[in-house]
Amino acid sequence: MSNKKLVSMEDIVSLCKRRGFIFQGSEIYGGLAGTWDFGPLGVALKRNIMDLWWKTFVEDREDMYGVDAAILMDQKVWQASGHTATFTDPLVECSNCHSRFRADHLEGDKCPTCGKTGTFSEAKQFNMMFQTNVGSVADENSISYLRPETAQGIFTNYKNVVDSFYPDLPFGIAQQGKAFRNEISPRDFVFRSREFEQMEIEYFIDPKDWEKLFDAWVKDIEKFLSDLGLPESSVHKLEVPKDDLAHYSKRTIDFEFDFPHKRDELLGLAYRTDFDLMNIQNASGKSMEYTVKGTSTKFVPHVIEPSFGVERAIMAVLVSAYTEDEVNGEKRTYLKLPAHLAPVKIAVSPLLKNKPELVTKAREVYDMLKKQHGAVMWDDNGNIGKRYRRQDEIGTPECVVIDFQTLEDDTVTVRDRDTTEQKRVNIIELPGQYR
Ligand code: GLY
Repeated sequence: MSNKKLVSMEDIVSLCKRRGFIFQGSEIYGGLAGTWDFGPLGVALKRNIMDLWWKTFVEDREDMYGVDAAILMDQKVWQASGHTATFTDPLVECSNCHSRFRADHLEGDKCPTCGKTGTFSEAKQFNMMFQTNVGSVADENSISYLRPETAQGIFTNYKNVVDSFYPDLPFGIAQQGKAFRNEISPRDFVFRSREFEQMEIEYFIDPKDWEKLFDAWVKDIEKFLSDLGLPESSVHKLEVPKDDLAHYSKRTIDFEFDFPHKRDELLGLAYRTDFDLMNIQNASGKSMEYTVKGTSTKFVPHVIEPSFGVERAIMAVLVSAYTEDEVNGEKRTYLKLPAHLAPVKIAVSPLLKNKPELVTKAREVYDMLKKQHGAVMWDDNGNIGKRYRRQDEIGTPECVVIDFQTLEDDTVTVRDRDTTEQKRVNIIELPGQYR
């Protein structure tokens, strides 16, 4: 019987490292705080999540256009968007040990590093954008930033998409890609890091429709979270109070998830009004007006923005999938991932790796399945029990084992990750099993 326990951060971090999902960035030199590297299984899981998002929100819809904008953008983008002036967090410094903290993350006035009380400085506003210079001359004019959100690469391409595709309203522009924030205190594994990946949509609308379309987005997001395998009971919608809204938002719902560290934001759905397009229009002097086809009606569209953080989605998927049970009196840990997200779909093994006839036959089966499914792993390490445990831990839905009977009748054992049940299947029928 599976028994879903409360998953600790330690469970997730140690599984990710042990099994090659996620490593500390620059670990070999002691680690660069707030950066993470994805190993072979982590990158596969990440791609599966990002591909599912792209398929769901771009490929399967008629009203969506994808873009992939440059990470480095003209500094005017960030002046117009308000990020240069207001994308800040309150920073305090301990006068005793000089540790720096985000003021709104502190509880009380005791320094978490040295333990002294009453040592914090007045809070200063710290801009979270990573600044750099473009070109060989480092002066005011060459300043640029690593983008702190992918959204602005969408807004700055709004006119290009309208002029080249003539979409009807409402329509969306979607982008996936890296974003960077110089967090004062990165923490909680990949939850709050300095370099991360976003999946964002700016959905351009007639403002009179915003409430109806906002509600439709709530439903679409809920469906996507269910496709990620997140239990409904772990997802909570938080209506962000007016005083806490981001500088561009008139209404925001944070979709929160029960992460191991606490209930925290998984993604945001914001009604950004015409804040960004108006800013771009004013700063660039170019019209952002949309002309309704066949009419002379023109207006600057408003925007609804569903903004997903990929690493947070990965954490939520891992937490939801992490399961412990008992098999033959022994504790077992496995990832009950939805098959479409599993980094490895099928593992293929010869029962014994020192029997050439089994290995040859298993290789034939492996080659056939690999062609069919791609994400198929050859696994002949250790005894069969160990292989099952390892595949369970990385969430492989099925293991195929080639044994002596296979040589006689072309049947193999197929073992199910969740039930641990085994059945015999003819090789001919195998490809159909995993569709
Ligand atoms: N584009 C919204 C955000 O990055 O939070």
